[in-house]
Amino acid sequence: MALAEFLKSLDALLTAASETFAAIDSDEALESARVAFLGAKQGQLKATQKAMGSIAPEDRPAAGKRFNEVKQQLEATFQEAKARLASAGARGPDELTERFDPTLPGLPLRIGRLHPITQTIEELKDIMGRLGFSVALGPEIEDEWHNFEALNIPAEHPARDPLENFYLAAAKTTSDGPLLLRSQTSTVQIRVMERTPPPVRVISLGRVYRPDTADRTHYPMFHQMEGLLIDTQVTMADLKSVLRLFATSYLGSDVHIRFRPSFFPFTEPSVEADFSWNAGWVEFGGAGMVDPNVLRSVGYDPERVTGFAFGLGVERLCMRRHGITDIRDLYRNDVRFLHQF
Ligand code: PHE
Repeated sequence: MALAEFLKSLDALLTAASETFAAIDSDEALESARVAFLGAKQGQLKATQKAMGSIAPEDRPAAGKRFNEVKQQLEATFQEAKARLASAGARGPDELTERFDPTLPGLPLRIGRLHPITQTIEELKDIMGRLGFSVALGPEIEDEWHNFEALNIPAEHPARDPLENFYLAAAKTTSDGPLLLRSQTSTVQIRVMERTPPPVRVISLGRVYRPDTADRTHYPMFHQMEGLLIDTQVTMADLKSVLRLFATSYLGSDVHIRFRPSFFPFTEPSVEADFSWNAGWVEFGGAGMVDPNVLRSVGYDPERVTGFAFGLGVERLCMRRHGITDIRDLYRNDVRFLHQF
């Protein structure tokens, strides 16, 4: 067979098949058209393929190329007809309007809401904003200078143990030391004081990371609210007043506050702050007067300015307020739980 003749027969086959498949309106017609054109034994495509054997060898590549194109088009036409029949079967032309009953109640919209921790953070910002504290931000990936050194935590201090921190082994070391996920929001105290001269009155809310095993009260990531106030003649009484005002605003007027002596390298004196609630004392975080070494490390003059700092656990506040007893519930992303807040 000559090449020209072969190509012509392919074109004729394509036209005939397209017309047939386009007109198909039943599964039976589809099947018989499939057998007629694409059938593996008697199909017209198969017959055409056989005719290729009689084409001169030098023309065969051209013939084969066109044959493959036509074959692909035929298969596509078949699939199209099949899809058309299937969608017509699933939904007849008038069926949709017939089935639609406008008197049925609608589907309720599921309205999203803010995560309880986000809600808590917003409320804490609000309360502290009314006390004159503005919001400061700091990075979650920190260097040793901001997480330790400037906070008066020297190299040999146990808090710097690699087992107590998430050091980023792969990250490159900066001029301020190796990088780690910050273990406390006190880092932001340093960042704020480094860029602003006193007086300072800020809070910083955000995530901190410690390699703790998760249980009802621990999670390797949690949130803190850091507070920092620097001015002339700031005293421990100011710290206690601010924390008491904060506690009663967030938890209620029946809440009392108690300080227990404690130790932090970056405050002197240092305290643990407990809030009373439902006849018990609960520790909400640490606080104290900013250590003169910290003030010096950011270039402040400890003879001229003093200040206080505190760091409270946001999860604890949120859990107390809502009666949540397992911190892990906050991070399971179960909407049945989250939907309640
Ligand atoms: N950074 C301390 C902690 O994470 C809390 C703290 C903040 C204590 C500020 C004193 C002053 O435990």
